[in-house]
Amino acid sequence: HVAVLDFGSQYTQLIVRRVRELGFFAKLYQPEDLAEIGKPGAIILSGGPMSTSHPDAPDIDFELLKGYGVPVLGVCYGMQLLNIKFGGSVEASDRREYGPAGLYPVACEGLYEGITDKSQVWMSHSDTVKNLGESCKVIAKNQHGTPVSLQWGESFYGIQFHPEVTHSHEGTRILHNFLLTAKELEPFRIEDFKRELIENIKKTVGDKQVVCGVSGGVDSTVLAVLLNEAGVNVRAIFVDQGLMRKNEAEEVKNNFHRLGVEIEAIDASKLFLGALAGEPDPEKKRVIIGNLFIDVFWDTVGNAEMLAQGTLYPDVIESASNDKSKASKIKTHHNRVDRILELQKQGKVLEPLAELFKDEVRELGHSLGIPDDILNRHPFPGPGLAVRCPGEITLERLNVIRDCDAIFINALKEHGWYDKVWQAYAGLIPVKTVGVKGDERSYEWATNLRAVISEDAMTADWVELPPSLLREVSNKILNEVSGINRVLYDISTKPPASIEWE
Ligand code: XMP
Repeated sequence: HVAVLDFGSQYTQLIVRRVRELGFFAKLYQPEDLAEIGKPGAIILSGGPMSTSHPDAPDIDFELLKGYGVPVLGVCYGMQLLNIKFGGSVEASDRREYGPAGLYPVACEGLYEGITDKSQVWMSHSDTVKNLGESCKVIAKNQHGTPVSLQWGESFYGIQFHPEVTHSHEGTRILHNFLLTAKELEPFRIEDFKRELIENIKKTVGDKQVVCGVSGGVDSTVLAVLLNEAGVNVRAIFVDQGLMRKNEAEEVKNNFHRLGVEIEAIDASKLFLGALAGEPDPEKKRVIIGNLFIDVFWDTVGNAEMLAQGTLYPDVIESASNDKSKASKIKTHHNRVDRILELQKQGKVLEPLAELFKDEVRELGHSLGIPDDILNRHPFPGPGLAVRCPGEITLERLNVIRDCDAIFINALKEHGWYDKVWQAYAGLIPVKTVGVKGDERSYEWATNLRAVISEDAMTADWVELPPSLLREVSNKILNEVSGINRVLYDISTKPPASIEWE
């Protein structure tokens, strides 16, 4: 496998993902656990937020590292650390170089085989390499002639930029070139990954009972089936918070029946709608929903010993709730509210999917035998229709969204667009405008249709749906849904917008 040592960069997990995408097994370790990384075929040292000159800067046991006798790649902080270990020095600077730079390989070989001159790479660092260490050669420079990539001996490499982010246009190829220098690398197979997840679940859970909330969405479904497969004592609970789409509660129950997973369904819609009544603030709505969710859970299960959640990697970074994270808080994802963080501190939260991105979860689900129609369901947020209904939430508003959404989604399915878009929905814009319906003045709300493509929910683009399809949906909504006299199509990319409206 490829051992990725985490020096704290917010991109470290992306390195793991890229390596997996390239077809090799990768695992994340803390630098102090270097002695326990088994038999790696290659080692990557990640970037990190600290300066190497800081007294608390994370270090590495260099003799141990060399002892593995495998190719080593240091990225950003990792490169600076290697340079120091090889006897060079690093200059601290208060100025941060952040953003695009041009890459000029010295020779089109090794790491830079097939890489074009001037290729864009992404920088994010303040310290820079000053003196080069022993046996060091510069293998690439930037547009100013500054070294941005080093090589020591035959198998130690360093790069100042971040090859793992998509803004480094040929970054994946550079990583691949590095991996090609390794002799034996285990291929990444989701089957092996699944086995490892199951082993870990068994080890962590033992004979404790795990409570797991299921929503019918891909993440929690895969989680429940995975827990089932691990043979642990699991209670899968479906809380209908009254914020589901049209007929969704029935559909969810049927799907779990098909999967052979027993679930307990609780209708808590009155409770949720009561608690949300009159609250227009998006963050407060999320917190109400998140806390109530746990209340309902705990009321149902009494003293559950563990809670399992289908949290994915993008949820972890976007919420930035982790004390160590330097990323800024964008919104509170509903599985990251304080109550859960408290449980997490007590070691009672199990999040087996937290390393994965959506497409990887689908692949895992596939290997668990979950049928495609369930796996290909569009993502649906934990707080449900609440994040598609800006302002106050009322049953009337929710029912209007449900009707619009069902019309839109059915049309996408009928015309073969459902599987082509990543996520789609109709939401509500609770602003009344004047129109004419059946010769009479109407004064009603608008619905916003949104259809996006995305790779991992971190960025998204709106889909150019055929005008004829939009026209059909619009006509149907205007004719059939009372309360709506305007249909809008959301043409905003993420960023700066987000996929949901709250
Ligand atoms: P945004 O709106 O942040 O959405 O662009 C990105 C993806 O995350 C989903 N989403 C959530 N999922 N709990 C969830 O489980 C949440 O609180 C939440 N908020 C947004 C959203 O549907 C999209 O797929």
